[in-house]
Amino acid sequence: MNAADEPPRPVDLDLALLEEAARQKIGEMAYAYYAGGSEDERQLAENVAAWRRWRLRPHVLVDVSAVSSALPVIVAPTALHRHADPNGEVASALGAARAGACFVLSCLANRDLAEVAGGPGVRWMQVYVLKDRGRTVEMVQRAAAAGYRALVLTVDAPVSGLRRRELQANVALPPDFGVPNVADPEDAWRLGRGFMAAVLGAFDPTITFEDIAWLAEVSGLPVVVKGVVRGDDAVRCVDAGARGIDVSNHGGRQLNDGVATVDALSEVVDAVARRAEVYVDGGIRRGGDVVKALSIGATAVMVGRP
Ligand code: FNR
Ligand code: LAC
Repeated sequence: MNAADEPPRPVDLDLALLEEAARQKIGEMAYAYYAGGSEDERQLAENVAAWRRWRLRPHVLVDVSAVSSALPVIVAPTALHRHADPNGEVASALGAARAGACFVLSCLANRDLAEVAGGPGVRWMQVYVLKDRGRTVEMVQRAAAAGYRALVLTVDAPVSGLRRRELQANVALPPDFGVPNVADPEDAWRLGRGFMAAVLGAFDPTITFEDIAWLAEVSGLPVVVKGVVRGDDAVRCVDAGARGIDVSNHGGRQLNDGVATVDALSEVVDAVARRAEVYVDGGIRRGGDVVKALSIGATAVMVGRP
């Protein structure tokens, strides 16, 4: 075998070591915001544990001399990347593009969506529907014009989970951190206990399945509904115009006693019956987890905290 034929060196990145290094670098308040879940965090732990429980049953004697190398991993929308890097989401979108992963920008990003657009890589825009529908429309139309290819409508946070770790660490929005896609600098969002609890006041708690078609219509973009853990709801979303379903429980930051996402995946895949794409996130920590998700029928996975 000559050098050109050598297989790539295996890389087994230890996420626990990476997490510890990140914690040292970003500090305890940012770490508490990123790493924490709701209440005693058993949903957070269960998401990870459930992927471990599912085991592969591989086929053998299949010709694998030619394999596809597209990366079926999407960077999940997470808020406030300035806690991790002074360039915020501009830096993380660049990292995603280098890895060949689609990047989903949280509408609670610290950078304006136009600053994160452009350059290499596929971008989608996550949306919380604001009480100010006019501002919501403006945001999604700007996203469409800036080249974002899909909207990800998050529906599992009509109220905030009780985020004990966030409250204990006094997580607040530092004065120089804006959330320019959804609020003007003078808006009083930095008040209140816990970030999510503070921002929820601006979200519209009246949204229903009908808002899926509304969002698709005003933006002209396909809508992925994020935060579905039941087959019947997935069917309602698809009937209402959703082009994708993301099986998610918000990374264990909302309901503390919900189903682990991998345990809900096959019900959703079966119910959707290929009428829409199915994604999954929550606790995905290894390549093996990605293989399991695809084996159950997901098109791709999303990864948040790592
Ligand atoms: C999130 N998540 C999230 N989801 C969303 O739709 N909009 C958002 O702004 C955020 N913000 C956010 C911040 C942080 C710090 C975390 C950890 C998560 C949820 C996220 O998209 C995803 O569902 C989970 O992170 C997936 O779980 P893992 O991969 O973190 O275990
Ligand atoms: C969170 C919100 C911003 O999970 O979605 O913190």
